[in-house]
Amino acid sequence: MAHGFDVIGSKDKAIAIIEVRDEDAHAGAEKELANAIMARNRHIVSVLKKESAREGEFRVREYSLVAGDGDTEVLHIENGYRLLVDPQKAYFSNRESTERTRVASQVKPGELVMVMFAGIGPYAIAIAKAQPGVQKVIAVESNPEAVRYMEHNVRINKLSHKVQPVQGDVRDACTPWYGMCDRIVMPLPLGAGEFLDVAFECAKRGAIVQLYSWGNEADGSIYAAAEKTIESFAKKAGRTYEIIGRRKVLPYAPGRYKVCVEFKVL
Ligand SMILES: C[S@@+](CC[C@H](N)C(=O)[O-])C[C@H]1O[C@@H](n2cnc3c(N)ncnc32)[C@H](O)[C@@H]1O
Repeated sequence: MAHGFDVIGSKDKAIAIIEVRDEDAHAGAEKELANAIMARNRHIVSVLKKESAREGEFRVREYSLVAGDGDTEVLHIENGYRLLVDPQKAYFSNRESTERTRVASQVKPGELVMVMFAGIGPYAIAIAKAQPGVQKVIAVESNPEAVRYMEHNVRINKLSHKVQPVQGDVRDACTPWYGMCDRIVMPLPLGAGEFLDVAFECAKRGAIVQLYSWGNEADGSIYAAAEKTIESFAKKAGRTYEIIGRRKVLPYAPGRYKVCVEFKVL
């Protein structure tokens, strides 16, 4: 019925998130499954069922509570840092922890990093934890609930001197850092490309941009769409660049992947 489930939280309190195909949906069976998950995993106190795709600007889904506690705020632990989140209020995916480690490991001492679309702060916090010599990480997010969690998460990880959460739309909120950033991370696969003009404005000469995008094998290369967008925005900005990395981040559907394309602004 459910194809595995995600667990967010810690050994003290966690929630499970299940996905049930429409043809398999059956309230009695879902409840039985949820109770079995909680019986086998004593730290799981609630089971949520995905009721929609990620929607709207804030990329949050609808969920229904199948069993357990209606309070679904949990403290998730990943790579040694803590993240408080209620997935019903703000985007969070535990499947991207490896990607965060990868991005964080590339950051060098002294860098000013701009994390756009920062959510509850996992990329910004991963970077500041892995590279204590980072100058500053600016983390811009429009969902007020996500910003509230990010501010809390920055505090509990003792990173207030390194991570600056900023509430607002990337299009307006990044202007104070125009021309100043050494690295720009853009973790919004659906639509980040449309903000590449802002990324070019933020980028110093030599800056590295990490653009996340959806990639389709049907386009000939899963990186084709992202690279076309980069080319078009660079032209409009009058900037030159060099692609320095391409990677599959996660599979999404047959022939469709979340990808990251990295380029250096010359
Ligand atoms: C895919 S989520 C990623 C969040 C976070 N980086 C993470 O990995 O958990 C994208 C985030 O971008 C935010 N967002 C979408 N459009 C935005 C915009 N124009 N300006 C600022 N934030 C935006 C959403 O609210 C959401 O939290």
